[in-house]
Amino acid sequence: MTRQFPKGFLWGGATAANQYEGGWNEGGKGMSVSDCARHHLDVDVQDYKAQNAVTSKDIEDALKSTDDSLYPKRHASDGYHHYKEDIKMFAEMGFKVYRMSIAWSRIFPHGDDTEPNEEGLKFYDDVFDECIKYGIEPLVTMSHYEPPIHLTLNYDGWASREVIDMFVRYVEVICERYKNKVKYWLTFNEVDSMIRHPYTTGGLIEDRFPDRNFTEVIFQAMHHQFVASALATKICHEKIPGSMVGCMLTKLTYYPYTCKPEDVLQAQQDMRSTYCYSDTQVFGEYPAYLLAKFRNEGLNIQMEKDDLNIMKKYPVDFVSFSYYMSSCSAKSVEGLDTAVGNTITAVKNPYLPASDWGWQIDPIGLRISMVDLYDRYRKPLFIVENGLGAKDELIDGTVDDQYRINYFDVHFKEMLNAIEIDGVECLGYTSWGCIDIVSESTKQMSKRYGFIYVDCDDLGNGTYKRYPKKSFYWYKKVIETNGACL
Ligand code: BG6
Repeated sequence: MTRQFPKGFLWGGATAANQYEGGWNEGGKGMSVSDCARHHLDVDVQDYKAQNAVTSKDIEDALKSTDDSLYPKRHASDGYHHYKEDIKMFAEMGFKVYRMSIAWSRIFPHGDDTEPNEEGLKFYDDVFDECIKYGIEPLVTMSHYEPPIHLTLNYDGWASREVIDMFVRYVEVICERYKNKVKYWLTFNEVDSMIRHPYTTGGLIEDRFPDRNFTEVIFQAMHHQFVASALATKICHEKIPGSMVGCMLTKLTYYPYTCKPEDVLQAQQDMRSTYCYSDTQVFGEYPAYLLAKFRNEGLNIQMEKDDLNIMKKYPVDFVSFSYYMSSCSAKSVEGLDTAVGNTITAVKNPYLPASDWGWQIDPIGLRISMVDLYDRYRKPLFIVENGLGAKDELIDGTVDDQYRINYFDVHFKEMLNAIEIDGVECLGYTSWGCIDIVSESTKQMSKRYGFIYVDCDDLGNGTYKRYPKKSFYWYKKVIETNGACL
């Protein structure tokens, strides 16, 4: 019997402004943390800590630098000037949904401005109109690694409570402006990633807090984002009846390395350290185990009287997540091989292959993740990131990326198993970097995820012309048949 995805399943692709748009100093845009993120092409791409370490001196240098080849997110894929042809190509593939983000610094260049930048608002009006023209539903992330750098320099980023009000002002403006165009929203991309890259997610730089426990600063900033996220959900629901607001979690999936109870316990704890953030946003309260961590580690998180009520009152409507790989957990890691993943390093699974960047490929892990999330939350899921970062070669105007097709093929089959056999409710799927964009962790353009090739190298050289890869036509068929061709 032919199997198909549920009717109305939202197939599409995803990008984020900081990795796709470029145009960093056009249209009245202010600088974001990502515009100041330098690539480190000389550093091992698997060393995330070194790749993403940011000091105050780095930012000073970035602000002075006019050499955009060092700061790849400043040009990115130049979506700012190419979005019309890109959306046309998405439409050709049959996209039903396009996940993208609004760059906060395009709307409020400094973050603390009192009036929004009309040119920035107009830009997204045009982008949404273009989507709607082709019947593509926009799914918009309000904050995807895009805090204005001004907030880092003048308020210490999300460590400051004042930033909540600034974010709320931004959300009020975008919800009011786009209320007739955007129904699906995500508040913070991978809110949990504050732990792994506090600068990109929260605008935090460790050396600005010489007298503080930096872990405490990170959780304080995250608390502010939780409150801001709940308020954003409230605003969205009030301004846009019928709108759906989701949280967005990095779905890290851990298996016990052996069946030794110590390893099983370790895996459980690693999984909890992933779930604690979505638990907070779905149930509207901090889970007991996160509060225990605060207590046990002496982390003193300042909360105002109403914060917990606000979080409780405005939980999210659905659970979105990124899924790329899985890892293993062991009580003692001595002598065990390690593998990198989405900004983590963990015990390597000997049964799994890996991508060119060492991320272990595990389609069954996607099914396991979907089942776990659905059983835990009983809220609809949305897979908003998944895909293969690979080295592509453009030959005769195309890329023969059969390896990418193979990756998607097995993941889609497991997705369907989760939906059909395990009864998971899933609203849709947006592949990450549906058009080549700058990598978040390594800032390389050569780590490509797209169905569409963008002619640009790690230093930003190239024509920025777009070319459909072999996977472009394959994905078109998948969407056309709603998965029946798999
Ligand atoms: C996700 C992020 O965690 O992983 C994206 O939300 C990122 O911004 C994606 O691009 C893939 O990671 P990378 O490092 O390969 O770009």
